[in-house]
Amino acid sequence: MAAHLMGFGRYAPERIITNDDWAARVDTSDEWITQRTGIKRRRFADDDESTMTMAVAAAEHALKDADLVAGDIDEIIVATDTPEMMTPDTAALVQHQLGCGNIPTYDLGGSGCAGFVQALDVAKARITVAPKTVLVIGVELISRMISLDDRATAVLFGDAAGAVVAGPSAARAEVLEVISGTDGAHAEILTLAAGGTRNPFNSGSLESGDYNRLVMDGRKVFVEAVRRMSEASVEVLDRIGKTTSDVALVIPHQANKRIIDAVRKQLGLADERVYVNVHEYGNTGSATVPFALSEAVDEGRIGPGDLVLLTAFGAGFHWAAAAIQF
Ligand code: ACO
Repeated sequence: MAAHLMGFGRYAPERIITNDDWAARVDTSDEWITQRTGIKRRRFADDDESTMTMAVAAAEHALKDADLVAGDIDEIIVATDTPEMMTPDTAALVQHQLGCGNIPTYDLGGSGCAGFVQALDVAKARITVAPKTVLVIGVELISRMISLDDRATAVLFGDAAGAVVAGPSAARAEVLEVISGTDGAHAEILTLAAGGTRNPFNSGSLESGDYNRLVMDGRKVFVEAVRRMSEASVEVLDRIGKTTSDVALVIPHQANKRIIDAVRKQLGLADERVYVNVHEYGNTGSATVPFALSEAVDEGRIGPGDLVLLTAFGAGFHWAAAAIQF
């Protein structure tokens, strides 16, 4: 039983935060952020929004795009590092809000920006075992979880959600192959440790500022992201007997433009074959790939017959790539 993508959806909050807005708050500039990252703007959720509400908005868009209703969904996977609460999982709240009935749901948490493509890997396996319709969501509300006074990390991120409906119906696109990998030896290079059992939220973590400190070695992350996304891309294409010259469009994780350009060069691709929206939305973690996929479909950048490559890298380190035949 093959797994297909039947609908695509996305949601971004209305509130736009420009680089100049950041420069008014911390010691940074539009020039620094643009040169190092390519980011010009990002969206931040309003107070009445949450991880769940953004996930639901993207899911409703994907369901409409698939011409399905909530009752057609058999399972929900939510990839997020910024869940609604510690327990229960965001997916349970999304299920209830959408009105899906008592279907199984689960979060895939902690994979950082690779979470959505990893979740797609799980969804493909679930559909292959027994035909079912799986809602796969990538969502982050990062602006509420990290320090907005730390210029080294805060300016990189934005809030958003993206979703696909995956299932047995061959109407639009087949998920030909997905690969995932993990190297758990590098947690300290990119981590938000507070809130877990090693460093629980308490007055100590509040006083030290650890409670929302995202620790990141940007240069090491950069090098690993380029290497892993490039290698995973080649590997997933190799598995289906294709090369990068067969690919119509690559949708890479949108961490920053320099990382995307380096991956593009590694893969030997022209600019127009790589989708980029990081200048508009910043790094929205596990939402970047499904958000960009939905946008690319709506913009007509993807058409019937196109082979589309997804590739992502995140904390852990985790990485994943998928080959989608439209
Ligand atoms: N504005 C101005 N200066 C800043 C800012 C800022 N917002 N942030 C850091 N700096 C300063 C630092 O304090 C440091 O100053 P110093 O040299 O006086 O100590 C200097 O800029 C750092 O410069 P570089 O190390 O040369 O910066 P670099 O060129 O490595 O760019 C960046 C930093 C953008 C973080 C880059 O390393 C990067 O993009 N790495 C990838 C990180 C990433 O994408 N993380 C997202 C999560 S993981 C993922 O999505 C894959």
